[in-house]
Amino acid sequence: MSAQNRKSSILSSILVVHGPNLNLLGTRETDVYGALTLDDIVDRLRTLAGELRVEIESIQSNSEGDLVSAIQSARGKYDGILINPAAYTHTSVAIRDAVLAYEGPVVEVHLSNIYKREEFRHKSLVADVAVGQVAGFGPHSYELGLRALVGVIAAAVPGSK
Ligand code: DQA
Repeated sequence: MSAQNRKSSILSSILVVHGPNLNLLGTRETDVYGALTLDDIVDRLRTLAGELRVEIESIQSNSEGDLVSAIQSARGKYDGILINPAAYTHTSVAIRDAVLAYEGPVVEVHLSNIYKREEFRHKSLVADVAVGQVAGFGPHSYELGLRALVGVIAAAVPGSK
């Protein structure tokens, strides 16, 4: 396929946002988060994105402000956001507000089932401003979340149903 055809077959662009400490995946609490690194997870997501004919851009930051800026910069540029806010899930009004300001659909994902863990992880400040949440399936949470997000974006395109 030519570069031009490949480009024109891309249906949407999605920003994948990873919060703090996810850069340590593969070495961090592997009993909870598994052995895959963040690069492994993003590689798998890229393969799936190709099958779904969407393109993804992935960013990881340990800084709340950088995550807020990344979500802000997605306005008008990406058709949807897949986000694992990590520890900021439970604390960040700023990330919640940035999600609220974003006009497209947002899907929240977690590797672990946050409802089976410590009580402070049971509350997500993003969950009720996201389209939905996928938690507890390890790396599959990202893949299920991407499929769900692409479905929501496609359903919003006139003439797609
Ligand atoms: C996490 C769950 C959060 O509670 C935790 O702080 C993380 C990872 C997950 O993917 O399971 O860093 O978001």
